[in-house]
Amino acid sequence: MEEKQMEVVPGLAGIPAAESSISYVDGEKGILEYRGIPVEVLAEKSTFLEVAYLLLFGKLPAESEYNKFNSDITYHTRLKVKILRMMEFLPENGHPMEYLQCVAAAMGMYYPARDVMNEETRYWSVVRLIAKMPTIVAACERLRHGDAPIQPNNALSFAANFYYMLFEKVPDAFTEKILDAMLILHADHTMNASTFSARVVGSTLADPYTVVSSAIGTLSGPLHGGANEEVVRMLREIGAKENARPYIEKMIERHEKIMGVGHRVYKTKDPRAIFLQSYSHQLFKNNTKRGNLLEIAEEVEKVVNEKLAIKKLYPNVDFYSGIVLQELGVPTDLFTPIFAMGRVAGWLAHWLEQLKTNRIYRPDQKYTGLRNQRYVPMEKRKG
Ligand code: ACO
Repeated sequence: MEEKQMEVVPGLAGIPAAESSISYVDGEKGILEYRGIPVEVLAEKSTFLEVAYLLLFGKLPAESEYNKFNSDITYHTRLKVKILRMMEFLPENGHPMEYLQCVAAAMGMYYPARDVMNEETRYWSVVRLIAKMPTIVAACERLRHGDAPIQPNNALSFAANFYYMLFEKVPDAFTEKILDAMLILHADHTMNASTFSARVVGSTLADPYTVVSSAIGTLSGPLHGGANEEVVRMLREIGAKENARPYIEKMIERHEKIMGVGHRVYKTKDPRAIFLQSYSHQLFKNNTKRGNLLEIAEEVEKVVNEKLAIKKLYPNVDFYSGIVLQELGVPTDLFTPIFAMGRVAGWLAHWLEQLKTNRIYRPDQKYTGLRNQRYVPMEKRKG
């Protein structure tokens, strides 16, 4: 029988994997919208939980709907003692993304949600996952330094509570706003690798904790969520504004990839990077505790624009998110877990959407191996 003639598209670039009405990107014009609303408007005017509701349920919540969702989330932020104990036994040098993936998967045993067609089960799984991610990330940071995790403070907002559990102090209003905006900007981004992964796992009718833990694993790779850590490392290595040009020119000469630059979809500057850059100016005006990485970053961007605009390579969200987080005092390896705290809303929105018209993902392949081979007994095989 003849093999089917098929063309393989590496990375499935440009191949629609689902119909979706959650978010929209125009990579040429630099537009990102959630349910039709520009992301920068949401980041400016709304809160992360409002945006999570919008992504999950398709509309901005009315006040009573928002109050209920907010209180459901707030009252599920605690972790079970047994989960905290389990975390104590994980290796201290494990990456926080590994903790997050492991605990998200384990939650499926404490809150069984295998009946994914049950609306109640789906709602409370969504609530628990969104509510507990910040508590897990903060507990992981405390435990690895030998400190007791801090219990959530239900009087605080979602973003302020995370900061409080991490640093044992309540953030000022600007810090709370920028953290909340960071979660909004990361909440969804069409069919990226981790969202695709969530939809594939969801399509098997696996439970939502398994869905989210696979998406966390997918996000952990340096080509997806890990680039902001690399950006901060690079900027620290550059050390001063005047070193930026020779450093970047050398990287370009050696055909090395500059982290936080380039995007599969955006052929112009990422709108999320524009938003974070403008907030960074205010942040760096208020505090400059850790050296002015913003000044170095903007010089790097200038060189990138001069040299790489021809390839349509511009800063992406990771270019500025790491700078903001390090200025807030967040350890570098918590950057991607914070990305996941926002993106979990998008993963779950895609999971709910997938279940509405579900068909298990089962793509094809173009076979390039041998056929009709003879079985050679072991004693006759050549090494
Ligand atoms: N620095 C220098 N050159 C680059 C960069 C970069 N960051 N990114 C791409 N290029 C060049 C490539 O070398 C290639 O050049 P060539 O055509 O001369 O060979 C061309 O641009 C196309 O690059 P691809 O890797 O084919 O682009 P792709 O769409 O597959 O990859 C990606 C996109 C993975 C984001 C890539 O730009 C990259 O690795 N960037 C750095 C990592 C990064 O910042 N990731 C975060 C992405 S945003 C997110 O996930 C939240």
